[in-house]
Amino acid sequence: MFPVDKIRADFPILKREVNGKPLVYFDNAATSQTPQVVIDAIVDYYSNSNANIHRGVHTLSQEATDLYEQARLKIQKHFNAKESYEIILTSGTTDGINMIASGFSDLLNTGDEIIVSALEHHSNIVPWQMLCEKTGAVLKVIPMLQNGTLNIEVYDALLSAKTKLVFCNHVSNALGTINPIKEIIKKAHKVGAAVLIDGAQATPHIKPDVQALDVDFYVASAHKICGPTGVGVLYGKSAWLEKLPPYQGGGEMIETVTFEKTTYAGLPHKFEAGTPNICGGIAFGVALDYMNAIGFEAIAAYEDELLQYGTKKLQEIEGLTIYGTSSKTAVISFNIEGIHPYDIGAILDKLGVAVRTGHHCAQPIMNFYNIPGTVRASFAFYNTKNEIDILIASVKRAAMMLR
Ligand code: ALA
Repeated sequence: MFPVDKIRADFPILKREVNGKPLVYFDNAATSQTPQVVIDAIVDYYSNSNANIHRGVHTLSQEATDLYEQARLKIQKHFNAKESYEIILTSGTTDGINMIASGFSDLLNTGDEIIVSALEHHSNIVPWQMLCEKTGAVLKVIPMLQNGTLNIEVYDALLSAKTKLVFCNHVSNALGTINPIKEIIKKAHKVGAAVLIDGAQATPHIKPDVQALDVDFYVASAHKICGPTGVGVLYGKSAWLEKLPPYQGGGEMIETVTFEKTTYAGLPHKFEAGTPNICGGIAFGVALDYMNAIGFEAIAAYEDELLQYGTKKLQEIEGLTIYGTSSKTAVISFNIEGIHPYDIGAILDKLGVAVRTGHHCAQPIMNFYNIPGTVRASFAFYNTKNEIDILIASVKRAAMMLR
């Protein structure tokens, strides 16, 4: 049996009340909660090891550097990257995506094509639009189907020798759909295109193997995987990272500087200008250790139980529609006929239940369904069926008050 009671004891915030009710936290797709072991790592870093890294000969700086580089190795192992220098520490998924978009502005020409999926978060749409404006490249979209999956037949037809880049999320943040990324990557490679996968919503549930996927770039954020905000990872195949220009200029990303010419440092430092989020990187490594000790297979199986239970119970509510009904992670995006999602979310909050409402930074998906937004309940491995019962009772109460 999944040890959820023991796991819940690791998360201090789960003991608190909101509006006089026990907190039921179902906004995990926005950010996950933080286990004590990660909080301790942050306190310990600032209490005992705080120093700038890669710079000092003094002991403290070397200790901090070792901790940070050990975290990079943990991240490398977790994602199964071939080399540790293929792991670039970023400020989060958005930062990683923008790094690649910026790098490709030198490599694209007018008429080149970029393919994105209709299921993207705005962070995987807007940087590519900006890139198209700069380069004259053309953005093409893989459309979605009613069940929240991608229309792969249209994808096949969009691919051509003109396609230079393909971007897709591993899991949709708004619906939880798990996309067939292995197939998407393989097909893109057949026409010579590079692929970036946004793993922000997949990584809390699935352990990605970047070598098995043969993906060119994979990005994710620590704060969705029990780590702190402000730190994330960009995995890139070394051949691509060597080819792309640096994203930002500054300290640490150089080899030599004169006023005539600067030469850049090797990987990963070429992409890590300035003092990084040292504590965040170290805590990211601790968060991955914590989740790996529980095990991603056990996490996914338990979360799927929650998903099936919650889906069945919510479907019993009159007038309730769930969006995205294919194979997915533990996300339920829904509306109740005649009621604005925001109103449901506001009442749920009064009852101690935290959900996200709105377009979830994925307006094209809302436009597809012709809705202003949804109520999104997103589950994590520390949630329980009892909490889902509270959600169901609270949604029923909200519906009764608002009808
Ligand atoms: N991208 C995050 C979400 O889906 C913030 O809520």
